[in-house]
Amino acid sequence: MKIISSIEELRDQLRGQLRTAFVPTMGNLHEGHLSLMRLARRHGDPVVASIFVNRLQFGPNEDFDKYPRSFHEDVAKLEKEGVYVLFAPSEKDLYPEPQEYRVRPPDDLGNILEGEFRPGFFTGVSTVVLKLFSCVQPKVAIFGKKDYQQLMIIRNMSKQFALPTEIIAAETWRAEDGLALSSRNGYLSEAERAEAPVLYQTLNEVAAEVRNGNLNLAAIEQRAMEKLAARHWNPDYVSIRKRDNLQAPSAAELSANAELVVLTAAKLGNTRLIDNLEI
Ligand code: PAJ
Repeated sequence: MKIISSIEELRDQLRGQLRTAFVPTMGNLHEGHLSLMRLARRHGDPVVASIFVNRLQFGPNEDFDKYPRSFHEDVAKLEKEGVYVLFAPSEKDLYPEPQEYRVRPPDDLGNILEGEFRPGFFTGVSTVVLKLFSCVQPKVAIFGKKDYQQLMIIRNMSKQFALPTEIIAAETWRAEDGLALSSRNGYLSEAERAEAPVLYQTLNEVAAEVRNGNLNLAAIEQRAMEKLAARHWNPDYVSIRKRDNLQAPSAAELSANAELVVLTAAKLGNTRLIDNLEI
Protein backbone atom coordinates (compact mmCIF):
# COMPACT_ATOMS: atom_id res chain seq x y z
CA MET A 1 0.00 0.00 0.00
CA LYS A 2 1.28 3.44 -0.88
CA ILE A 3 0.83 6.14 1.74
CA ILE A 4 0.52 9.52 0.11
CA SER A 5 0.10 12.91 1.74
CA SER A 6 0.36 15.40 -1.12
CA ILE A 7 -2.46 16.08 -3.57
CA GLU A 8 -0.03 16.27 -6.46
CA GLU A 9 1.55 12.90 -5.72
CA LEU A 10 -1.89 11.38 -5.34
CA ARG A 11 -2.89 12.65 -8.77
CA ASP A 12 0.32 11.21 -10.29
CA GLN A 13 -0.27 7.87 -8.64
CA LEU A 14 -3.91 7.59 -9.76
CA ARG A 15 -3.53 9.06 -13.24
CA GLY A 16 -5.49 7.04 -15.80
CA GLN A 17 -7.44 5.06 -13.22
CA LEU A 18 -11.08 5.03 -14.28
CA ARG A 19 -12.62 2.62 -11.76
CA THR A 20 -11.30 3.89 -8.43
CA ALA A 21 -13.42 3.00 -5.39
CA PHE A 22 -12.92 5.46 -2.55
CA VAL A 23 -13.56 5.22 1.20
CA PRO A 24 -13.06 8.47 3.14
CA THR A 25 -12.51 8.15 6.90
CA MET A 26 -11.19 10.03 9.90
CA GLY A 27 -9.12 7.03 10.99
CA ASN A 28 -9.12 5.09 14.27
CA LEU A 29 -10.40 2.30 12.08
CA HIS A 30 -12.72 -0.43 13.33
CA GLU A 31 -14.50 -3.37 11.73
CA GLY A 32 -17.24 -1.02 10.40
CA HIS A 33 -14.69 0.96 8.39
CA LEU A 34 -13.08 -2.26 7.16
CA SER A 35 -16.45 -3.54 5.93
CA LEU A 36 -16.55 -0.42 3.72
CA MET A 37 -13.12 -1.32 2.27
CA ARG A 38 -14.45 -4.80 1.39
CA LEU A 39 -17.55 -3.35 -0.24
CA ALA A 40 -15.32 -0.92 -2.15
CA ARG A 41 -13.32 -3.83 -3.55
CA ARG A 42 -16.52 -5.31 -5.01
CA HIS A 43 -17.38 -2.04 -6.75
CA GLY A 44 -14.09 -0.88 -8.21
CA ASP A 45 -10.35 -1.16 -8.53
CA PRO A 46 -8.08 0.19 -7.14
CA VAL A 47 -9.42 0.84 -3.64
CA VAL A 48 -8.29 4.17 -2.21
CA ALA A 49 -8.88 5.08 1.45
CA SER A 50 -8.31 8.39 3.14
CA ILE A 51 -7.60 9.31 6.73
CA PHE A 52 -8.09 12.95 7.60
CA VAL A 53 -9.52 14.39 10.80
CA ASN A 54 -11.36 17.32 9.29
CA ARG A 55 -11.28 20.38 11.53
CA LEU A 56 -14.01 22.06 9.44
CA GLN A 57 -16.66 19.64 10.68
CA PHE A 58 -15.94 20.04 14.40
CA GLY A 59 -17.63 22.72 16.49
CA PRO A 60 -15.50 24.94 18.77
CA ASN A 61 -16.49 22.87 21.84
CA GLU A 62 -16.25 19.48 20.17
CA ASP A 63 -13.58 16.80 20.34
CA PHE A 64 -11.24 17.72 17.44
CA ASP A 65 -8.14 17.77 19.64
CA LYS A 66 -8.88 14.57 21.48
CA TYR A 67 -10.42 12.70 18.52
CA PRO A 68 -8.67 9.29 18.64
CA ARG A 69 -5.73 8.95 16.27
CA SER A 70 -4.06 5.59 15.70
CA PHE A 71 -2.26 5.94 12.40
CA HIS A 72 0.11 2.96 12.65
CA GLU A 73 -2.61 0.50 13.60
CA ASP A 74 -4.82 1.92 10.85
CA VAL A 75 -2.10 1.41 8.23
CA ALA A 76 -1.70 -2.26 9.23
CA LYS A 77 -5.47 -2.83 8.96
CA LEU A 78 -5.71 -1.20 5.53
CA GLU A 79 -2.70 -3.20 4.26
CA LYS A 80 -4.56 -6.38 5.21
CA GLU A 81 -7.65 -5.28 3.28
CA GLY A 82 -5.66 -4.83 0.08
CA VAL A 83 -6.06 -1.07 -0.10
CA TYR A 84 -3.86 0.28 -2.93
CA VAL A 85 -3.41 3.87 -1.82
CA LEU A 86 -3.94 5.53 1.55
CA PHE A 87 -4.33 9.27 1.15
CA ALA A 88 -3.39 10.81 4.50
CA PRO A 89 -2.87 14.53 3.98
CA SER A 90 -1.80 16.88 6.74
CA GLU A 91 -3.96 19.94 7.32
CA LYS A 92 -1.41 21.97 5.31
CA ASP A 93 -1.64 19.49 2.43
CA LEU A 94 -5.42 19.60 2.19
CA TYR A 95 -5.96 23.18 3.33
CA PRO A 96 -2.78 25.01 2.22
CA GLU A 97 -4.73 28.23 2.57
CA PRO A 98 -7.86 28.81 4.65
CA GLN A 99 -10.77 26.96 3.02
CA GLU A 100 -13.01 29.90 2.24
CA TYR A 101 -15.23 28.32 -0.40
CA ARG A 102 -17.72 25.99 1.28
CA VAL A 103 -20.41 23.58 0.20
CA ARG A 104 -23.55 24.34 2.21
CA PRO A 105 -26.32 21.75 2.05
CA PRO A 106 -29.93 23.00 1.89
CA ASP A 107 -31.32 23.99 5.30
CA ASP A 108 -34.11 21.40 5.25
CA LEU A 109 -31.49 18.65 5.11
CA GLY A 110 -28.37 20.20 6.62
CA ASN A 111 -29.89 21.99 9.60
CA ILE A 112 -32.19 19.26 10.94
CA LEU A 113 -31.37 16.35 13.29
CA GLU A 114 -27.53 16.24 13.53
CA GLY A 115 -27.33 19.64 11.83
CA GLU A 116 -29.55 21.20 14.49
CA PHE A 117 -27.29 20.01 17.31
CA ARG A 118 -24.01 20.45 15.44
CA PRO A 119 -24.30 23.75 13.55
CA GLY A 120 -22.07 23.82 10.47
CA PHE A 121 -21.29 20.12 10.73
CA PHE A 122 -22.66 19.15 7.32
CA THR A 123 -21.08 22.15 5.63
CA GLY A 124 -17.73 20.95 6.99
CA VAL A 125 -18.42 17.38 5.88
CA SER A 126 -19.69 18.34 2.40
CA THR A 127 -16.76 20.68 1.81
CA VAL A 128 -14.10 18.13 2.69
CA VAL A 129 -15.83 15.33 0.80
CA LEU A 130 -16.09 17.42 -2.36
CA LYS A 131 -12.41 18.30 -2.01
CA LEU A 132 -11.41 14.67 -1.41
CA PHE A 133 -13.48 13.60 -4.44
CA SER A 134 -11.69 16.24 -6.47
CA CYS A 135 -8.31 14.82 -5.37
CA VAL A 136 -9.16 11.12 -5.83
CA GLN A 137 -11.65 11.41 -8.73
CA PRO A 138 -13.36 8.15 -7.80
CA LYS A 139 -15.89 6.24 -9.89
CA VAL A 140 -17.64 5.12 -6.69
CA ALA A 141 -17.42 6.15 -3.05
CA ILE A 142 -18.67 4.17 -0.05
CA PHE A 143 -20.47 5.70 2.93
CA GLY A 144 -21.95 3.94 5.96
CA LYS A 145 -25.63 4.02 6.88
CA LYS A 146 -24.41 4.50 10.46
CA ASP A 147 -24.25 8.19 9.49
CA TYR A 148 -27.56 8.15 7.67
CA GLN A 149 -28.00 11.88 7.23
CA GLN A 150 -24.39 12.28 6.06
CA LEU A 151 -24.91 9.55 3.45
CA MET A 152 -28.03 11.28 2.15
CA ILE A 153 -26.40 14.72 2.04
CA ILE A 154 -23.37 13.42 0.13
CA ARG A 155 -25.61 11.52 -2.27
CA ASN A 156 -27.64 14.67 -3.00
CA MET A 157 -24.48 16.76 -3.35
CA SER A 158 -23.05 14.33 -5.87
CA LYS A 159 -26.30 14.42 -7.84
CA GLN A 160 -26.77 18.21 -7.74
CA PHE A 161 -23.21 18.93 -8.83
CA ALA A 162 -23.35 16.15 -11.44
CA LEU A 163 -20.21 14.62 -9.93
CA PRO A 164 -19.05 11.51 -11.80
CA THR A 165 -18.96 9.61 -8.49
CA GLU A 166 -21.63 7.07 -7.58
CA ILE A 167 -22.43 6.92 -3.86
CA ILE A 168 -22.83 3.44 -2.42
CA ALA A 169 -24.34 2.74 1.01
CA ALA A 170 -22.89 0.19 3.43
CA GLU A 171 -24.93 -1.40 6.21
CA THR A 172 -24.17 -0.47 9.82
CA TRP A 173 -21.67 -2.80 11.46
CA ARG A 174 -22.62 -3.65 15.06
CA ALA A 175 -21.04 -5.33 18.06
CA GLU A 176 -22.74 -8.57 19.13
CA ASP A 177 -24.83 -6.71 21.69
CA GLY A 178 -26.14 -4.35 18.99
CA LEU A 179 -24.03 -1.26 19.64
CA ALA A 180 -23.04 0.35 16.34
CA LEU A 181 -19.25 0.45 16.08
CA SER A 182 -17.88 3.98 16.29
CA SER A 183 -14.49 5.56 16.88
CA ARG A 184 -16.09 7.44 19.77
CA ASN A 185 -17.07 4.20 21.58
CA GLY A 186 -13.52 4.22 22.94
CA TYR A 187 -14.52 7.18 25.13
CA LEU A 188 -17.02 5.00 27.06
CA SER A 189 -16.20 3.74 30.56
CA GLU A 190 -16.80 0.05 31.26
CA ALA A 191 -20.16 0.78 32.86
CA GLU A 192 -21.19 3.07 29.99
CA ARG A 193 -20.16 0.46 27.44
CA ALA A 194 -22.47 -2.01 29.19
CA GLU A 195 -25.35 0.49 29.00
CA ALA A 196 -24.67 1.63 25.41
CA PRO A 197 -26.65 -1.14 23.58
CA VAL A 198 -29.82 0.35 25.10
CA LEU A 199 -29.73 2.96 22.32
CA TYR A 200 -30.16 0.31 19.61
CA GLN A 201 -32.73 -1.54 21.75
CA THR A 202 -34.72 1.68 21.96
CA LEU A 203 -34.62 2.06 18.17
CA ASN A 204 -35.91 -1.50 17.83
CA GLU A 205 -38.76 -0.79 20.24
CA VAL A 206 -39.72 2.33 18.29
CA ALA A 207 -39.62 0.38 15.01
CA ALA A 208 -41.79 -2.38 16.50
CA GLU A 209 -44.43 0.11 17.64
CA VAL A 210 -44.59 1.70 14.19
CA ARG A 211 -44.77 -1.69 12.48
CA ASN A 212 -47.61 -2.64 14.84
CA GLY A 213 -49.62 0.24 13.43
CA ASN A 214 -49.24 2.91 16.10
CA LEU A 215 -49.62 6.13 14.08
CA ASN A 216 -48.91 8.56 16.92
CA LEU A 217 -45.26 9.06 16.07
CA ALA A 218 -44.81 12.05 18.38
CA ALA A 219 -45.93 9.94 21.35
CA ILE A 220 -43.62 7.08 20.39
CA GLU A 221 -40.67 9.46 20.06
CA GLN A 222 -41.50 11.12 23.37
CA ARG A 223 -41.69 7.78 25.21
CA ALA A 224 -38.34 6.71 23.78
CA MET A 225 -36.73 9.99 24.89
CA GLU A 226 -38.19 9.55 28.39
CA LYS A 227 -36.96 5.98 28.62
CA LEU A 228 -33.43 7.06 27.74
CA ALA A 229 -33.55 10.00 30.15
CA ALA A 230 -34.77 7.71 32.95
CA ARG A 231 -31.65 5.58 32.38
CA HIS A 232 -29.44 8.68 32.71
CA TRP A 233 -28.93 9.28 29.03
CA ASN A 234 -29.15 12.80 27.70
CA PRO A 235 -31.02 12.37 24.40
CA ASP A 236 -30.86 15.09 21.71
CA TYR A 237 -33.54 13.50 19.54
CA VAL A 238 -35.40 10.34 18.65
CA SER A 239 -37.09 11.08 15.31
CA ILE A 240 -39.12 8.98 12.91
CA ARG A 241 -38.59 10.35 9.41
CA LYS A 242 -39.14 9.47 5.77
CA ARG A 243 -36.13 7.65 4.38
CA ASP A 244 -36.00 9.58 1.13
CA ASN A 245 -35.73 13.15 2.50
CA LEU A 246 -35.57 12.86 6.32
CA GLN A 247 -38.70 14.99 6.73
CA ALA A 248 -41.52 14.00 9.10
CA PRO A 249 -44.22 12.03 7.27
CA SER A 250 -47.69 13.53 6.96
CA ALA A 251 -50.69 11.52 8.18
CA ALA A 252 -51.52 10.68 4.57
CA GLU A 253 -47.97 9.51 3.87
CA LEU A 254 -48.04 7.40 7.03
CA SER A 255 -51.23 5.64 6.00
CA ALA A 256 -49.76 5.15 2.52
CA ASN A 257 -46.88 3.24 4.15
CA ALA A 258 -44.10 5.72 3.43
CA GLU A 259 -40.66 4.16 3.96
CA LEU A 260 -39.41 5.30 7.36
CA VAL A 261 -36.23 5.42 9.39
CA VAL A 262 -35.84 6.22 13.08
CA LEU A 263 -32.78 8.27 13.97
CA THR A 264 -31.33 9.10 17.36
CA ALA A 265 -28.51 10.95 19.07
CA ALA A 266 -27.93 10.79 22.81
CA LYS A 267 -25.19 11.49 25.27
CA LEU A 268 -24.06 8.83 27.71
CA GLY A 269 -21.83 10.59 30.21
CA ASN A 270 -19.62 12.80 28.03
CA THR A 271 -19.91 10.63 24.93
CA ARG A 272 -22.41 11.48 22.22
CA LEU A 273 -23.62 8.42 20.31
CA ILE A 274 -25.77 8.33 17.17
CA ASP A 275 -27.63 5.45 15.58
CA ASN A 276 -30.57 4.77 13.29
CA LEU A 277 -32.75 1.93 12.07
CA GLU A 278 -34.78 1.54 8.89
CA ILE A 279 -38.32 0.57 9.83
P1 PAJ B 1 -15.72 8.38 10.03
O1 PAJ B 1 -16.57 8.64 11.23
O2 PAJ B 1 -14.33 7.90 10.21
O3 PAJ B 1 -16.50 7.35 9.13
C1 PAJ B 1 -16.00 6.97 7.87
C2 PAJ B 1 -17.05 6.11 7.17
O4 PAJ B 1 -17.28 4.93 7.92
C3 PAJ B 1 -18.42 6.84 7.09
O5 PAJ B 1 -18.99 6.59 5.81
C4 PAJ B 1 -19.21 6.17 8.18
O6 PAJ B 1 -20.61 6.18 7.96
C5 PAJ B 1 -18.66 4.77 8.15
N1 PAJ B 1 -18.90 4.05 9.40
C6 PAJ B 1 -18.56 4.44 10.65
N2 PAJ B 1 -18.98 3.52 11.55
C7 PAJ B 1 -19.62 2.55 10.86
C8 PAJ B 1 -20.28 1.32 11.21
N3 PAJ B 1 -20.39 0.93 12.48
N4 PAJ B 1 -20.81 0.59 10.22
C9 PAJ B 1 -20.72 0.98 8.92
N5 PAJ B 1 -20.10 2.11 8.52
C10 PAJ B 1 -19.56 2.88 9.48
O7 PAJ B 1 -17.83 9.92 8.58
C11 PAJ B 1 -16.71 10.40 8.63
O8 PAJ B 1 -15.63 9.72 9.13
C12 PAJ B 1 -16.39 11.80 8.13
O9 PAJ B 1 -17.52 12.62 8.30
C13 PAJ B 1 -15.95 11.82 6.64
C14 PAJ B 1 -17.02 11.32 5.69
C15 PAJ B 1 -14.65 11.01 6.46
C16 PAJ B 1 -15.64 13.31 6.23
O10 PAJ B 1 -14.69 13.87 7.07
